[in-house]
Amino acid sequence: MDITEILKKYVPTREEKHKKESVIKEVLSKVDTYIRENSVDAQPIIVGSFARGTDLKNSDVDIFIQFEKSYSKEEMEKIGLNLGFHILSDGVAKYAEHPYVRGTWSGVHIDLVPCFRFERNSKIISSVDRTPLHTEFLNSVSTPEMKTQSILLKLFMKKLGIYGSELKTEGFSGYVVELCIYYSGSVNNFLEKVANDRGQFVVGPGNPKFSSPVVIVDPVDLSRNASASVSEKSLAILRMGSRMFLENPSVDFFDPDHINRPNRVFQNRGTYLIVLLMPKPEIIEDILFPQIQLLRRNLIKFAVDEEFRLMNMFYAVEEEEIQILIELESGNLPGVRIRQGPPADLPNSLTFFNKYLHDDHIARGPYVKDGRVYAEVYRDITAFKTILQNNIGKINMGHHLNTLKSSITLEEDYEKIINMKVFRSFLEEINPCYPPENISRKTSS
Ligand code: UTP
Ligand code: MN
Repeated sequence: MDITEILKKYVPTREEKHKKESVIKEVLSKVDTYIRENSVDAQPIIVGSFARGTDLKNSDVDIFIQFEKSYSKEEMEKIGLNLGFHILSDGVAKYAEHPYVRGTWSGVHIDLVPCFRFERNSKIISSVDRTPLHTEFLNSVSTPEMKTQSILLKLFMKKLGIYGSELKTEGFSGYVVELCIYYSGSVNNFLEKVANDRGQFVVGPGNPKFSSPVVIVDPVDLSRNASASVSEKSLAILRMGSRMFLENPSVDFFDPDHINRPNRVFQNRGTYLIVLLMPKPEIIEDILFPQIQLLRRNLIKFAVDEEFRLMNMFYAVEEEEIQILIELESGNLPGVRIRQGPPADLPNSLTFFNKYLHDDHIARGPYVKDGRVYAEVYRDITAFKTILQNNIGKINMGHHLNTLKSSITLEEDYEKIINMKVFRSFLEEINPCYPPENISRKTSS
């Protein structure tokens, strides 16, 4: 395959563009009617990738409804949601930072987003208010070649799994990808810059006040880092992906739907595996994923604090279930725990000695070794599953997940675990992406 074929595969054809345009026309006329009949002082505007000619076949159409500033924020949001539900019959409200309605019209994904009309240099009321300025800015600087380069960089990031600024991905948004091309000129220049860079990654003029892993100052609002949502992990994946590509360039890096999964035969890992299962609450991903990530971090801390030797903590989200796989070197702790006391030249070494001498759980000692005092105590409970069960109430999982604690089950059955989605994705994880076949051959020779 060559780049022309890649573009054919992912860029909408002329007919598909026409289809989107007629869908937009229909939606806009519905919006106009609604605005007129309800005397709303607002105008719709097409923004996002469609308005800039950088959309992929399955990209959504972003329609913003710009309200006059005379409305209060609450009124604007309320009217905006009503309008969205009125027009998109399958609409679902999305509330991350700002409420809007997402739905479809003749199979095209549509976002209807209320915002305030925003003039340059005036005070921003909500961050979405500046989105129309992004489109205005990029359209004033982009050439057709830059648009093609932006599309290719989007595909490259998609292949790596780091396209999208949602909290599930913590990657590069469409706008940020286009700014990367604006500042570096082409995909190749950009990837070379990435591969040769270390530390905080700054594209464009930068600003020392930003501390995020990636800094790309928003040209329409110099006080904002447009790439603030990119995580350390996404940046690391981009860095490795850029190296892989430059060492062995292949169009395969721009073909996210094509996966060359290497054939591997897996053996029993000889470790202890347990899966925490809980129902998935009906909340949007931008609210769900931070809670799952919090739970994951707190489970890691819990296992380590309890002195288990943790190997992996991995999660998967199924249709109706959250699955967290915990892998430990062993699911059981020794029956005895060694407590290290202070060095003998400190007065509290005797306090430690006296405390443990008459401890109910004392198994051995206290005794002096290598200049310090030690005591060995019996552990009442040694099984990870029981210890976790006993302490699950204390583990913070975030607002919604905390309310589901009583529905948590713990699965230790190996035969059941190996058939779960979480275990399959755990075994199959290769990051960044699945490199083209010729790369794995090259490095092994
Ligand atoms: P989209 O997420 O739909 O991105 O946000 P996009 O540029 O249209 O790209 P695709 O093709 O759909 O993936 C729409 C607009 O909202 C603003 C940008 O102006 C973007 O173009 N936006 C979105 C941000 O400024 N930051 C974000 O994190 C997300
Ligand atoms: Mn979009």
